[in-house]
Amino acid sequence: MKTIKDILTQNEFGYDDIVTMLSAERPDDIELLRGAADSSLRRNIGNKLYLRGLVEFSNICTCNCLYCGIRRDNHGVKRYTLDEEEILEAARWTAGHGYGSFVLQSGQRNVAQFIIFLEKLIYRIKEETASDELPEGLGITLSVGELSDAHYRRLYEAGAHRYLLRIETSNPAIFEKIHPPEQTFEQRIRALNSLKNIGYQTGTGVMIGIPGQTIEDLARDIVFFRAMDIDMIGMGPYLVHRQTPLGGYFERWAALTDEIYQLSLKMIAVARIVLGDVNIASTTALETIRPEGKFEGIRFGANVLMPVLTPHEHRSNYLLYDGKAMTDVLEGKKGEEFIKKLKSIDREIALGEWGDPKHYFNRTYAIKS
Ligand code: 5AD
Repeated sequence: MKTIKDILTQNEFGYDDIVTMLSAERPDDIELLRGAADSSLRRNIGNKLYLRGLVEFSNICTCNCLYCGIRRDNHGVKRYTLDEEEILEAARWTAGHGYGSFVLQSGQRNVAQFIIFLEKLIYRIKEETASDELPEGLGITLSVGELSDAHYRRLYEAGAHRYLLRIETSNPAIFEKIHPPEQTFEQRIRALNSLKNIGYQTGTGVMIGIPGQTIEDLARDIVFFRAMDIDMIGMGPYLVHRQTPLGGYFERWAALTDEIYQLSLKMIAVARIVLGDVNIASTTALETIRPEGKFEGIRFGANVLMPVLTPHEHRSNYLLYDGKAMTDVLEGKKGEEFIKKLKSIDREIALGEWGDPKHYFNRTYAIKS
């Protein structure tokens, strides 16, 4: 069998190579993966870390995902929606601090009223954050679930140019186990394709450590990202929320957290090695499972950070999982230390630019030519 070292001399990687890389256990093999991911990042994109201000503007959701704390049937959650001014405030903060992009995230609501609200919001954010540095205003990413094609198109035309919609797992059987029957794998794929066709820079991702998920499943997830020609990836550990139908998994899950954490870092590194020019986020879930997780995600090849700007009075109502990390803004003493640590590994924060994924330009150029 090929060793990790052998595999890392290749330029292209097959499914078996990905399985071998994700199976690495020895610290020196994991360090080899980290190093290779770091060189892939620098070679394909550079050493910049892109920031997006993330506002979780509503926890109202019509979905009933079996793992998610804000699922429709969790009546223990106080539902909220920020008003336009509160969201604009977060957008202004984002622009004022030089972050180039803004992420609007919420539960899923595929109704006209919600789309009109978002459309208006996007126009206003664009207009009010335009500056010399960013003449078109902040870059806007949406993460508001599966909508109709017509709604996706309207929001794109309003000025949102990126969209995050996780596949959660590329294994249809697992997908089916963790979602109610009305939410199908096929529909999720259809939505991802329609986002790409409309022209969005398209992001997806998976949860790592879902009950029943194997290394082979995770390897197929990476193959899926490549086959779908995805521009951006956000993945993180699955974290059990006890007030969900999967809550009973907690004890078994708790005994696996070390493994799930390591696997999450390896997934970032291997995605970077295999996919090269995509944007990869170091996620809040990674920080939740281990306080150092966010920084480690960056060391393992992530190039995007999405500090949470949701107003504090609402944060405890946006718990997708238990124990969610809340220390997100890169300000104050902790922020300074973080920036110092970044410098020590020769990574710098990009300010005043959108930070679009290079992959998008590479793939659309390829279609044009
Ligand atoms: N653990 C980890 N991630 C979760 N998400 C939802 N619930 C959980 C959980 N319990 C993630 C999903 C979703 C994103 C918005 O949050 O991947 O796509």
